[in-house]
Amino acid sequence: MTDTTTKALRVTNLKAENYKRLVAVDISPSGNVVTIAGRNAQGKSSVLDALWAALAGGEASRATQQPIREGQDSAVVRLDLGDIIVTRRWTKDDAGTLTVESADGAKYSSPQKLLDEMLGRRAFDPLAFVRQSPKDQVATLVSTVDLPFDPEELERKRKGVYDQRTEVGRDVAKLEAQLASYPDHDPNLPDEEESASALLAEADAAREQNASIDRAVSEANRQASAVEWAEDALREAQASLDAARSQYADAQKALKAMPTRVDVSGFTERLDGLEASNRRIRAQKDRTMVAGFLSAAKQKRAEHTIQLERIEKQKAEALAAVEFPVPGLSFDDAGVTLNGIPLSQSSSAEQLRVSVALAMAANPKLRVLRIMDGSLLDSESMQIIAELAAEHDYQVWVEVVDESGKVGVTIEDGQVAR
Ligand SMILES: Nc1ncnc2c1ncn2[C@@H]1O[C@H](COP(=O)(O)OP(=O)(O)OP(=O)(O)O)[C@@H](O)[C@H]1O
Ligand SMILES: [Mg+2]
Repeated sequence: MTDTTTKALRVTNLKAENYKRLVAVDISPSGNVVTIAGRNAQGKSSVLDALWAALAGGEASRATQQPIREGQDSAVVRLDLGDIIVTRRWTKDDAGTLTVESADGAKYSSPQKLLDEMLGRRAFDPLAFVRQSPKDQVATLVSTVDLPFDPEELERKRKGVYDQRTEVGRDVAKLEAQLASYPDHDPNLPDEEESASALLAEADAAREQNASIDRAVSEANRQASAVEWAEDALREAQASLDAARSQYADAQKALKAMPTRVDVSGFTERLDGLEASNRRIRAQKDRTMVAGFLSAAKQKRAEHTIQLERIEKQKAEALAAVEFPVPGLSFDDAGVTLNGIPLSQSSSAEQLRVSVALAMAANPKLRVLRIMDGSLLDSESMQIIAELAAEHDYQVWVEVVDESGKVGVTIEDGQVAR
């Protein structure tokens, strides 16, 4: 059997009978662009659809409810791809049968699978790319080129850092507000609160000293009464008078030995002052701590910003190194871009060029492309397609409306016009 694994294939001959509008056509195309021309309703799309139906099967047959020309019993499309021959036949009430054989007549056992493997993914509707959403366009582009990174994973990473930075930013704002609620820093305040216990002990000692004075005073008074009592009783007890006098003298002596009295009214005031100063010291310590937290949070936020910039740079550098099928093609978070501008804002010709180049970039074995709405394309766009086809060794089938009969293969009443 012929080797079908290496050489690029294209259609060297297309024969179709009774397929849709076609009576019978036999086309042996040359060159990279095959223009199927003619007036409206003559069978141009029928030619291109015959190509599609023969090669793609499934989707094409579902889209074509009546493949056999009205009044006929069967239709057939036969494609010569050089090394292999593809034949699809329809008879009434069947979805078509496919035969793929080598040039020497040997049949392949899984013909549709063979064709599917040889066909490019957007071979029959390359402009479908233009109609995709920006997000799907990016997915198509990413699946076509070789990216050194996973854009979704990179975006997840970027978002993670961004969210972390937002969180730390909230801490910064909170700490700044908290810091503002403290009185300003006072360099004259001591670092630590003063102890009240020493002052309290001093006050206790003073009170105790005064109490013993009080006790001495009352003792002296008591003894004075005793003298008075003893004098009253002098006449009865001269002896006890002497004793009382002696005791009185002792008491007076003890009184003289006592220190001076202390004024205790100031202690309360001093204590109050101490508490106020300690409150300020406490606040000052808290303030120092919050200022520390704030500068740490600010530092963290700055680190996150640097990380974000690094991710963006990494992405930009990786993208710059990727080889896109069209110069200037790239993508960002919003979609595919051409020379930095969203593809949706590029001109129709630019979008066409990108779509066709992308469809060709897959580099399938069977290099066939179908463009149905060729009449929408001006000569510049047609020129672009011809250049791309030559560059990628592609065979592009284009349908154009034309009444001159001087463009490409003219189809008239279901046949090739002579
Ligand atoms: N199974 C069929 N049997 C007979 N006629 C058919 C069948 N299928 C489609 N047609 C007719 O073929 C014509 C359309 O053919 P086709 O789409 O190939 O023409 P076209 O040259 O591409 O036209 P246009 O310039 O408008 O694109 C219509 O008139 C349609 O009625
Ligand atoms: Mg048409």
